[in-house]
Amino acid sequence: MSNPMLQLRDIHKAFGTQHVLKGINLTVEKGEVVVILGPSGSGKTTLLRTVNFLEKADRGSITANQFTVECLDAKKQDVLMLRRKTAMVFQNYNLFANKTILENVMEGLIIVKKIKKKIAEKKGLEVLDKVGLADKANAYPNQLSGGQQQRAGIARAILLNPDVILFDEPTSALDPELVGEVLTTIKKIAQTGVTMVVVTHEVSFAKEVANRIVFMADGNIVEQGPPEKLLVNPEKERTKQFLSRITSEKGSTDFSN
Ligand SMILES: Nc1ncnc2c1ncn2[C@@H]1O[C@H](COP(=O)(O)OP(=O)(O)OP(=O)(O)O)[C@@H](O)[C@H]1O
Ligand SMILES: [Mg+2]
Repeated sequence: MSNPMLQLRDIHKAFGTQHVLKGINLTVEKGEVVVILGPSGSGKTTLLRTVNFLEKADRGSITANQFTVECLDAKKQDVLMLRRKTAMVFQNYNLFANKTILENVMEGLIIVKKIKKKIAEKKGLEVLDKVGLADKANAYPNQLSGGQQQRAGIARAILLNPDVILFDEPTSALDPELVGEVLTTIKKIAQTGVTMVVVTHEVSFAKEVANRIVFMADGNIVEQGPPEKLLVNPEKERTKQFLSRITSEKGSTDFSN
């Protein structure tokens, strides 16, 4: 049965005269992992940002776990509610330099959820253990590798227990040898049944983890489908063009099994 956790309807966004999102409709089921692929500038980041109102869409509505917001009529309370239901993991981790890893991770629990410090600490340590950072709880962000910082960013997101986690290129700022540990962490979280939308250029990861891949270009969803269909046998010319370019850049090993 259909049980959408996230539903975007007719999302439009322009910056000045540039129409960046041209009517996006996207439904994500509970527990589904949706990967968004698409060329630079196609609107992927903007789309994720509209979901929790880091950008306000010009038209359309957003439903997260049965709570619907008409973008143009959104009140402050609606935006807060949506942000509680959707957590975002950014490319550049966005950790506070003057707080320890544990303080960074539990910050949301204390501020957003008003949970007592002792309890937040305990939950923070549990989630750090899950992402393999138990021994870094008292370190500061600049004492961690990029991959470790990103895993802390992920821990912070899952600790808030959101209905949907939105990842915007979580590995693109990392040295190649650190990408694997972050993708493994995301994969582990995906396996616990958390609903996810992941913007990434990592096609092999998408192939392994995604239930569905959405291909975006020029502010539109061009086509979508299960990875084995979309990556191997896409229907649209635009999708074929994009895939042939990224596989020739990265070598064709992504499709080898
Ligand atoms: N705040 C903004 N003000 C003006 N233009 C913007 C703003 N944010 C994004 N844009 C423009 O919107 C378009 C889509 O940008 P967006 O960041 O969503 O693309 P993207 O698909 O995430 O690209 P990339 O793969 O490079 O991250 C780009 O042309 C960008 O320049
Ligand atoms: Mg982007």
